Amino acid sequence: MARRPLIAANWKMHKTQQEARSFVAALLPKIRDIRDRDILICPSFPLISAVDQARKESQILLGAQNMYFEEKGAFTGEVSHGMLKDLHCEFVILGHSERRWVFGETDQMINKKVLAAIQGGLIPILCVGEKLSEREQNLTEQVILNQMDLGIKGVPEDVIVNLVVAYEPVWAIGTGRNASAKDAKDAVSLIREFIHSRYGSVAADKIRILYGGSVKPENMATYMKEDGIDGGLVGGASLEPDSFAKLICY
Ligand code: 13P
Repeated sequence: MARRPLIAANWKMHKTQQEARSFVAALLPKIRDIRDRDILICPSFPLISAVDQARKESQILLGAQNMYFEEKGAFTGEVSHGMLKDLHCEFVILGHSERRWVFGETDQMINKKVLAAIQGGLIPILCVGEKLSEREQNLTEQVILNQMDLGIKGVPEDVIVNLVVAYEPVWAIGTGRNASAKDAKDAVSLIREFIHSRYGSVAADKIRILYGGSVKPENMATYMKEDGIDGGLVGGASLEPDSFAKLICY
């Protein structure tokens, strides 16, 4: 079954509103004719409206980089799925390794966020991946399966196909040391087998699984050639319109 590729920009904590607007204005003419894949931009919260306005009627999809699982209340500094929907977000990145390892998010918190995002009508992009020390101890598979198991606990069968998973090995993020196509493919296959074991073949066929970690225009095609890798979640190389357009047109 052909899955629609998804090329996603995670801008992390970069750009001003004006820079975001200029980026989208420069990107739009470069991707005008692209219709056979999903293109997603996930800016930081203060830039979401600027990107939403700049994308106009284009095919660009909009996402956030995080959210809290409660709907409202005394949670200073947090945002809810309702707020993201109100800003026209369609996706939300959850469990990014920077959330896990810089901000101490646990699998249990991430799971609550996944469930809340689904309930709120957002598509979660659940990030999983091992640290270098874990890879060196041959714990990669165990770490991925554990993060998957805890991350999607309680996700109903009828919505699992909408979830997106991103395999992002921590040692490959922002380091220039991208995973080999084979390592990425093996991890993505493991994740798909896990979905198969829990939800059956239809779900496993439909769910999109991305690779992220030092993806660049020069290496994007090598990942996309691999069976089972449905796209990329891109940090640094998504920050310039030329570079992001090349990634999209891999
Ligand atoms: P880089 O592409 O900068 O390595 O970042 C990857 C990432 O963390 C995307 O979510």
